[in-house]
Amino acid sequence: MKGMDILLKEDRVFPPPEPFRRAANIQDPGIYEAAARDRLAFWESFARQLHWFRPWSQVLDWKVPDARWFVGGETNLSFNCLDRHLGSARRTKAAILWEGEPGEERTLTYTQLHREVCRFANGLKELGLRKGDRVTLYMPMVPELAIAMLACARIGAVHSVVFGGFSAEALRDRINDSQSKLLVTADGSWRRGTVVPLKKSADEALEGTPGVEKVVVFRRIGPSTSSGQGVPMKPGRDLWWHDLVARQSDRCEAEPLDSETMLYLLYTSGTTGKPKGIVHTTGGTMTGCYATTKWIFDIKEEDIYWCTADIGWVTGHSYVVYGPLLNGATVLMYEGAPDHPAKDRFWEIIEKYRVNIFYTAPTAIRTFMKWGDDHPGKHDLSSLRLLGSVGEPINPEAWIWYHRVIGGARCPVVDTWWQTETGHIMISPLPGLTDLKPGSATRAFPGIEADVVDDQGKSAEAGYLVIRSPWPGMMRGIYGDPERYKKQYWERFPGLYFAGDGCRKDAQGYFWLLGRVDDVLKVSGHRLSTMEIESALVDHPSVAESAVIGKPHDIKENSIVAFVTLKGSVQAAAGLPDELKAHVVKKIGSLARPDEIIFTAELPKTRSGKIMRRLLRDIAEGKALGDTTTLADASVVQALKEKYGEPE
Ligand code: WTA
Repeated sequence: MKGMDILLKEDRVFPPPEPFRRAANIQDPGIYEAAARDRLAFWESFARQLHWFRPWSQVLDWKVPDARWFVGGETNLSFNCLDRHLGSARRTKAAILWEGEPGEERTLTYTQLHREVCRFANGLKELGLRKGDRVTLYMPMVPELAIAMLACARIGAVHSVVFGGFSAEALRDRINDSQSKLLVTADGSWRRGTVVPLKKSADEALEGTPGVEKVVVFRRIGPSTSSGQGVPMKPGRDLWWHDLVARQSDRCEAEPLDSETMLYLLYTSGTTGKPKGIVHTTGGTMTGCYATTKWIFDIKEEDIYWCTADIGWVTGHSYVVYGPLLNGATVLMYEGAPDHPAKDRFWEIIEKYRVNIFYTAPTAIRTFMKWGDDHPGKHDLSSLRLLGSVGEPINPEAWIWYHRVIGGARCPVVDTWWQTETGHIMISPLPGLTDLKPGSATRAFPGIEADVVDDQGKSAEAGYLVIRSPWPGMMRGIYGDPERYKKQYWERFPGLYFAGDGCRKDAQGYFWLLGRVDDVLKVSGHRLSTMEIESALVDHPSVAESAVIGKPHDIKENSIVAFVTLKGSVQAAAGLPDELKAHVVKKIGSLARPDEIIFTAELPKTRSGKIMRRLLRDIAEGKALGDTTTLADASVVQALKEKYGEPE
């Protein structure tokens, strides 16, 4: 497995710095054993710290693969993120500090955020939204995205956030699969000084979404800027956010909801061409996000906390919105790119707001490393006390750089492993307790039973990462497809949750994640499916067949290489690769643009017709070819190798 050799050699250990350890939220190493002895009591102790309108009668009801947590309990996530804080000094505390890419600043206190959420929740009701209805949010990184999520949660509507980088077609598929009645979007978003035309994409998507009745448009850009020409509004369908909320009361009681009420859908890429709507429910998501934020990010009352993830991904759901607000934290939110107007924008923000906790992705860290130490060097980063990493394996070199240059060798680094499906962090250090090893996500969070198994499902030193027992924030299914849920996650190793990641466990029981073992690709921390990109390519009139693979990349973990066979009469004209790349961008979004297109007369297949991706990977990486004996027609590979893949 890739990366394994380097990881095996990594033996540096970083114990928690003494001042950090002494002040940490969790200092008792006995917690691991206590939680393992009684997992349910462990999770229950966190649930009890939150508000329930009605207590649960049973902590867990579990019959593989269906879990119900806090059975019979009634709560409301929006209430716990907002109302619960209003009776204390937190009511005047900043909940959200926002900075737009052009530099505007906004602060919303808990009281103000509560008011805005109530207004929008009333607006949703005016538009006819009821408990259980789905709402798609296609928004920039503005407070209104969090407000819309919290408003949905308040009335029991289900939000489905679609990342703003997805194309109109991808948005359309997600709206239709979720049968959303309402779309909330914006006139645009700032990114590297230009406007991302969200409403334009939304309009295109809406040409094929019969279920959508209304569209609420938040004015982010406005008609007066040079790039924002104003957006067309369709009479009877489109209405402005500001008009809708202006006429609403700022009081809206949070609805008591059964713990298993669907909270959100989040579409993610799997091993087929069709993205899956991951289902999460109320009580479990709430408890899991609350607990992990409190212990892993060691949130303190006075902290300024910044997670750079876009809310369009799960990290933004759990660790920009729900986890920190449940903890009454001050969350910093930034709209734009890290290199606008210059490559020190993040460090400028950290200095300006005195950020204490900073959570980002390895791709970003490797990019900053490449940009050089001068950029962070220009700024005072001494406010930082804890760093986090998520989304991909972090290589020890990047870890060490992050620790030294950004953290001044004083901040613990929490490398957190989890997935859209798990809902919250599963494997991570506890920063006041855990001795860190660069490149390892260290240990399972207390109450989480992670393990590594071999092909037969037996506990092993290296193999596949599995989770042995249910946890509160786990997915409850794939929207509309219970069979696929069972098959993909629970049947590979019967009764165990199959994560799809390769993993190694060292002598101390630390986990070393080794990347995906299926057809899911991580590119710059974004999750894509090779099949989805293949379907996008095959959708082009010139393409007969395609196979997409990830080729290891120094910065973004993988680059996308597409092998393509053309239809009989088509010639590979000079402009065709660019045309095919543009076609993928149109079908999915620029995040899926192939880096390389390789034309081939045929794809290497086994005698049973399966594409041999391993061979394609070898060719793309210019490696000597492995075993080709199972190949149906060896001359195919020979031809490809001669054309593209001779080892250098
Ligand atoms: C990968 C992102 C190594 C992994 C929260 C997983 C990681 C996939 C780590 C889920 C980490 C996430 N170390 N790999 N700390 N965190 N991954 O659904 O392959 O976008 O299966 O959720 O990201 O990606 P997703």
